Amino acid sequence: MTRVFSGIQPTGEFQLGNYLGALRHWVVDQHEHDSLFCAVDLHAITLRQDPAELHQKTLEAIAALIAVGLDPETCIIFVQSHVHEHAELAWLIECTVAFGELSRMTQFKDKSARSDAHISAGLFTYPALMAADILLYDIDRVPVGDDQRQHLELTRDVAERFNSRYGETFVVPAAAIAKVGARVMDLQEPQSKMSKSSASMAGCVQLFEDRDSIVKKFKRAVTDSGSEVSFDVENKPGVSNLLSILAAVTNSDPESVANEYDRYGDLKVATAEAVLEVIGPIQDRRAELLADPAELSRLIELGAVKAQALAGNVLERARSAMGFVARP
Ligand code: TRP
Repeated sequence: MTRVFSGIQPTGEFQLGNYLGALRHWVVDQHEHDSLFCAVDLHAITLRQDPAELHQKTLEAIAALIAVGLDPETCIIFVQSHVHEHAELAWLIECTVAFGELSRMTQFKDKSARSDAHISAGLFTYPALMAADILLYDIDRVPVGDDQRQHLELTRDVAERFNSRYGETFVVPAAAIAKVGARVMDLQEPQSKMSKSSASMAGCVQLFEDRDSIVKKFKRAVTDSGSEVSFDVENKPGVSNLLSILAAVTNSDPESVANEYDRYGDLKVATAEAVLEVIGPIQDRRAELLADPAELSRLIELGAVKAQALAGNVLERARSAMGFVARP
């Protein structure tokens, strides 16, 4: 079976666009691939985090992955820092990747340009840790968005370099395959993708946002001139986005959904309701898990044990290939 790895930032990720574009498909795919889902707390601290918040968000991220329908018995859902092999392999990779290669990473350039104060060394070596995440599990495929493509290319380069220097050690993961499914646009700026980095949160629906607030965001969604409900991304990006969302959550297609509505207002209300019908049970399930810390801990530990069983072997392979003496 193909092995797939996804790293999820515990401090972001869970918004409607990400759910419809990625998470929802992973739920289906978990039965076709060996899948690993990792809440990347070690990556989160490359930017300064409030400790209490990081703690809570990490628990919430694991609970969210389970709540959307990923089954901890079927796939592996775990917290990155629970498997110390990630930090260890990252160091071996840092000594394999070149300073120049890391300097060319556009995400580092963007992030470091945006923050005026303290830029951690970890922000610079972030891609080495990401490569370690992937290489530790003999991963074939990594579903990532465009923003992570360069990091994935680097992972491939580093794996190939390591293999040619020290002998076949790592599986070289396939290049990113574009995500299938709905491309959800910002409700206020339907020309750009709905994302956590949107200019205003009014256009971005969070998966675990208060239900009333979700309804408000849909009611205030930007529509287009004219009044006819039709699917026309070019000329009616706002209306088309609502149609795409409604179609995605009702497993229909935007053209046929368009035929059912005459007025923008009705479309907005219907979309909000349909979204809540899908999101509501997910919110309830996450709340249940967070209210049962013993069960959540059990599931977190289950993931850590399964992940570590795989990671331990690969780290040992890498250590021995590099010439480290095994502990007697
Ligand atoms: N860097 C990724 C992001 O910001 C998260 C991530 C960390 C990741 N490790 C990974 C993604 C490994 C895919 C594979 O979204």
